[in-house]
Amino acid sequence: MDRPLRILFIASEVAPFAKTGGLADVAGALPVALRERGHELMVVMPRYASVNYQKFGLRRFWDSMGVWMGTGQLWCGVNMADHQGVPVYFIDYNEYFGRDGIYHDAAYNDYLDNPYRFGFLSRAGLQLARDMEFAPDIVHVHDWQTAPAAAYLKTWHWADPILGKAASVLTIHNMAYQGVYDSSCYPFLGLGWNNFNAGAFEDHGRVNFLKGGIAFADMVNTVSPTYAKETRTAELGYGMAPMLNNKGDDYVGIINGVDYSDWSPDADRLIPAPFTPDSLAGKALDKHTLQRRFMLEESPDIPVIGVVSRFADQKGLGLLAQAIEGIVNSMRVQFVILGSGDPGLESYFGGLPARYPGRIGSYIGYNNEIAHWIEAGSDFFIMPSIYEPCGLNQIYSLRYGTLPIVRATGGLDDTVEQYDEATGGGTGFKFWSATPGAVYNTVGWAVSTYYDRPQHIAQMMQRAMTQDFSWERSAVAYEEIYARAMANKARL
Ligand code: ADP
Ligand code: GLC
Repeated sequence: MDRPLRILFIASEVAPFAKTGGLADVAGALPVALRERGHELMVVMPRYASVNYQKFGLRRFWDSMGVWMGTGQLWCGVNMADHQGVPVYFIDYNEYFGRDGIYHDAAYNDYLDNPYRFGFLSRAGLQLARDMEFAPDIVHVHDWQTAPAAAYLKTWHWADPILGKAASVLTIHNMAYQGVYDSSCYPFLGLGWNNFNAGAFEDHGRVNFLKGGIAFADMVNTVSPTYAKETRTAELGYGMAPMLNNKGDDYVGIINGVDYSDWSPDADRLIPAPFTPDSLAGKALDKHTLQRRFMLEESPDIPVIGVVSRFADQKGLGLLAQAIEGIVNSMRVQFVILGSGDPGLESYFGGLPARYPGRIGSYIGYNNEIAHWIEAGSDFFIMPSIYEPCGLNQIYSLRYGTLPIVRATGGLDDTVEQYDEATGGGTGFKFWSATPGAVYNTVGWAVSTYYDRPQHIAQMMQRAMTQDFSWERSAVAYEEIYARAMANKARL
């Protein structure tokens, strides 16, 4: 990039402030990486009740900011905090965000006013930049929640002296969540019935936030090249394939980076013992501690397979559920499972330690420290995803020398190299078929390699640990699509 850009990020979750999944990791780390490359950033997100004022050092920025929506003006407050040199602004509007949950209540019921909450966030992010006279070159929005901002730029703010030149980039982290609602919320968005058509916000008579965003954004991307290809097809496009194919070259895939200051075994402050590729003694200790924590047989020789996941259909844990008992009954192997979500899977995986004591450990819930322990102390990490836009845990696993066992879909296929039995090459074990049998066989393959070809495992661990998925690389790729978005906007 030949000059520094001004970039406005608007996102519904940003780590470390609020997180349900990888979107937050990206919205937290990418701005920092871009700032380090000389760009000027501002990030806007909601102030959920769970965003702790003291813990994150929030301070009041503005007591009141008026935000026009289609049905009238709403007044909110604005707080701010510093995040590794990037200013993050929090939209304070109790009626919408003053709840502990981000998208749903504790019983996983989606909040019924989500289209209002995130329509408002989309507009408020732009309003804040405008009132601060922060004239962005790029407005970078994420998923359906903030997709409407791309449309506001081409409608309300078309001739705006501050926002009028901004080009928009929409990053899609998951095609399955599109924000589809009854059309009664559409007037609130204020985007005009002329944009409620099949080429933009309308979807079988309902409002589709993501679809509108795809139509209006100057560039659209998703988080891996393979998932970009897959979503251009009916099977994984969830109805968006025609829209995405219409974008032609303006829809691309960029692999996420990972934050190695958080997820690297030499620097990780959450794990019992640090380690490096040259000195793996710490990893042995981490494995022992993990086995003890989960009351598994404490043996350095039995391979441990880790799971850290949302329990959602996407993650393919139903396949693992159908295979895991056959695996532990026929192979000398242990599992440690961390996750939450689907109540059926929660009770199934939660009940396994009692039925397979010493061989399966599990923790039902969300726990970052245990996630780190599992990455560090396991020998293998399994992700049998049905689809996976990028996936971060397999990339963390590589860095910890914990070899991924993955279904070859989306970002999993792009980041893991298949084991080559002839040479000991590769960084993990991949399978294609979405069946319990394929999970069983591939785990069997990994476990037999562990016992029979330990020198191959050692070689793969070395290769895995030295892979580079730093944000620096992804930030360069984002600069390229920012330039293309600006060129696309300038042509209009
Ligand atoms: P997704 O965003 O689809 O859930 P990713 O692999 O991109 O998948 O990101 C998952 C992120 O959430 C990782 O940072 C992972 O460590 C974290 N995570 C998921 N479930 C849990 C859990 N139960 N406890 C702790 N961290 C979790
Ligand atoms: C989504 C996807 C995941 C991806 C993350 C960050 O949550 O499910 O694969 O890594 O977004 O882009």
